[in-house]
Amino acid sequence: MRKPLVAGNWKMNGDRASITSLLDEMLEALETAKCDHCEVLVFPTHVYLSEVVTRLAGTVVATGAQDVDSRAVGAYTGAVSAGMVRDIGCTHALVGHSERRTLFGEDDDTVAEKYAQCLDVGLMPILCVGETLAEREADHTLDVVTRQLRAVVERVGMDGIGGGMVAYEPVWAIGTGLSATPEQAEEVHSALRDSLVSLDPAIGEATRLLYGGSVNGDNAQALFAMENVDGALVGGASLKSKSFIDICRFADASV
Ligand code: PGA
Repeated sequence: MRKPLVAGNWKMNGDRASITSLLDEMLEALETAKCDHCEVLVFPTHVYLSEVVTRLAGTVVATGAQDVDSRAVGAYTGAVSAGMVRDIGCTHALVGHSERRTLFGEDDDTVAEKYAQCLDVGLMPILCVGETLAEREADHTLDVVTRQLRAVVERVGMDGIGGGMVAYEPVWAIGTGLSATPEQAEEVHSALRDSLVSLDPAIGEATRLLYGGSVNGDNAQALFAMENVDGALVGGASLKSKSFIDICRFADASV
């Protein structure tokens, strides 16, 4: 049984005032909604991580970082290590988000190093994989996502995969309002599942596979009805408490 998880990726949005009120609204809504069967996570930008960790202490919502460096320590101006993120109380980190891959030039090996850094310090990494529209149109979707996954498996082994989770985020669906259909998501999720199960049946079955890309309160329920969709990584709709908590409710009810 895989516990569903809904994670809000706030990207480079918000300021102190808006983040404070978003958290207040979320926590208030969660008191009514409960969502005991679902894990809830937020990913603020680095600058606000400490404040968010403090605000969420003792609540049901966990805090993660949107990125960590691929190295542990040293002369890397501007970089933030997994150990630092762990030290201030975060429990999770995203690695390999498509915006990092395309806008910041991260390749599969760098992403695998970041994943390994998270495991080394006790952070749970969420590995993002996904194809571009051109790759989908060329029928390369499954090749791309399995290549991205394999780079991490080769670096950390299946035990390492079991220490994290995977988010399938088709690049063409991110921030476009054009979500993958539940069937399109399930096709990729089940291929990822098969690939993990072939390497280690127990870990492959237990690893959570999230879907991300224009998830909102209107499409979440149908996505969560798919056998291998174990939750969502939510961008735009996580910046409003109403839509984010609606998604959490659907995840909670999918159990
Ligand atoms: P979106 O972003 O929900 O705004 O499409 C998802 C993501 O980038 O994680």
